[in-house]
Amino acid sequence: MIVKEIADGIYFMGAMHWDRRIFDELISLPDGTSYNAYLIKDEKVALIDTVDPSKEDELLKELEKMDIERIDYIISHHTEQDHSGGIPAVMEKYKEARVIASKLGKELLKEHLLIPENKIKDVDDGEALSLGKRNLQFISAPWVHWPETMLSYLKEDKILFTCDLFGSHLATSRIYADENPRIYEAAKRYYAEIMMPFRKKIRKHLDRIRNMEIKMIAPSHGPIYRKPETILNAYEEWISDEVKKEVVVAYVSMHGSVEKMVKHFIKALEKNDMSYKLFNLPVTDIGELAMTLVDASTLVLATPTVLGGMHPLALYAFYLANALNPKTKFVSLIISYGWGGKAVEQAKSLFKLKAEIIEPVIAKGHPKQEDYEALNRLAEEIAKKHNEAGIT
Ligand code: FEO
Repeated sequence: MIVKEIADGIYFMGAMHWDRRIFDELISLPDGTSYNAYLIKDEKVALIDTVDPSKEDELLKELEKMDIERIDYIISHHTEQDHSGGIPAVMEKYKEARVIASKLGKELLKEHLLIPENKIKDVDDGEALSLGKRNLQFISAPWVHWPETMLSYLKEDKILFTCDLFGSHLATSRIYADENPRIYEAAKRYYAEIMMPFRKKIRKHLDRIRNMEIKMIAPSHGPIYRKPETILNAYEEWISDEVKKEVVVAYVSMHGSVEKMVKHFIKALEKNDMSYKLFNLPVTDIGELAMTLVDASTLVLATPTVLGGMHPLALYAFYLANALNPKTKFVSLIISYGWGGKAVEQAKSLFKLKAEIIEPVIAKGHPKQEDYEALNRLAEEIAKKHNEAGIT
C-alpha cells in the first residue's frame, strides 16, 4: 500500500493491485488497478472509503504503523465491495467507528456487508459533518454508477473525494495524475466501461461540481488530480453529443467470407475519406472497443450467421454496445449466411441505441460482385450521412 500525505493531516492510502487483470469477471485491467482510501486526522478521525477485501490486511497494517488508535467515522461513498468490502474488518478493529452513508447506501451496506443498522448514520445531500477544524460536506451523486453513490467535499482544503467518478484502473507508484503520461487513456477506458451508460446523469453532477471551488479531485481508483480541469474537461468532451468522424468496424469471420467483405469495405471507406478502426472480435480487448465507442460516429458490425443468428461474439459486442449506450450516430451490419438469413432480424429486434440504422449488406455464401458493390454503396452512404450531419 502506498501512503502519502496529500495535504496537512490528509493521507492517500492506496492499495495497488498491480496484477489484477479482470474486474467484475468482465472488464479487463491491462494496467491493474488501485483501491484508494483516504484518512483525515483532525479532532475526529475519518476514513474515506476502504479497500477491496483482498487488500484489507494492508490497510489495517498501515493504520497501525500510523499509530491510529481511533477512527470515528468511515465514510462509505459507494457500496460496491472494492471500496466497502474492507469496512467490516476496520470496524472490527476500531469498534467506536460509525459508518456514514447516503440513505440508500445504508440499506445496501446492511444487505451486502451485513453491517448492523445502529452502526450506520445516513446523511442527506448537502449535509455537513464536523471533524473539528474541518468539515466534510456530502453530495448526493446517484448513478455514477450505482444509485446510492455520494461524493464528499472537504471544505477547508477544497478537496473533492469522488469514489468511482473520475477514477481510472491504473496501478502506479505516482499518485498524481500529472505524473502519469498515460492517465488520459486509462481514465477514458474507465469512463467507457463504467460511466458511459450514465452520461446524461453525469452531466448534472458535472454542472454542480463546476460551481464548486476545487483544488484536488481524489478518486478511489487511480491517481489524484491536482489540476481538476484536466479530468473535468475530458469528461465534458466524453459526455457531450459531439462525435468524431470515425467508423468502428467490429467483425468476426468463420471461413473468410465476412473477412473478405470487411477488407473490401474498409478500402471503400478510405476512398470516401472516412477514418475507421478495425476490431477482429475473437482477439479484441473489449475495453479497447468500448473506449473507441466513446466518441466514434459510426458502428458497423460484421458477422456470419450461426444457428440462425449472429455469431455469439458479434452478439456479445452488440449486447455490450446496447448496454454501454454510446453516442454513436449511425449503425449498420455486414452479414454473411449460408441458408438461413435471420441475423438481421435478430439484430434489429435487439437494437436499443438511438442511432440511425443504415441499410445492412447481406451476402449469401462467398461475396459476389453485387455484394462488393453494395459495400461500396454502404461506405458512400455513411460518408454522405456524415456530410449531412456536419460531422468532420
Ligand atoms: Fe470501484 Fe463501483 O466500484
